[in-house]
Amino acid sequence: MIYLTRREHFNAAHRLYNKTWSDEKNFEVFGKCANPNWHGHNYELFITVKGDPDPNTGFIINAQELSRIIKTRIADKLDHKNLNIEVDFLKDVLPSTENVCKAIWEQLEPYIVNGKLHCVKLQETENIYAEYFGE
Ligand code: NI
Repeated sequence: MIYLTRREHFNAAHRLYNKTWSDEKNFEVFGKCANPNWHGHNYELFITVKGDPDPNTGFIINAQELSRIIKTRIADKLDHKNLNIEVDFLKDVLPSTENVCKAIWEQLEPYIVNGKLHCVKLQETENIYAEYFGE
């Protein structure tokens, strides 16, 4: 079994805010991430596919094809967007690193037909990232 990882990048704005809580509680839990005027991140996204290389190509999945899938299904929908209000598949999702990571998995998984999606890793800052393996 071989694991192939493709990295993509997007910039996006968000706010951590639980609408069932008071403003006070939101600021207590999320700190400055609850800023009502949003803040942004330079996200790095790592998509790992696993499988056995095709004997004819040596590929688990054609990296150009993988890049195209990530771009059309994810990066084009998130880049320079507000994750709280502009992204169809994040509607009603509190856009924490963890929740966005899982939502990206759910978007991509049906489209990875050569090889199998193994991991979605979403890095929000230099010091924090989330990984999802489908369970
Ligand atoms: Ni943030």
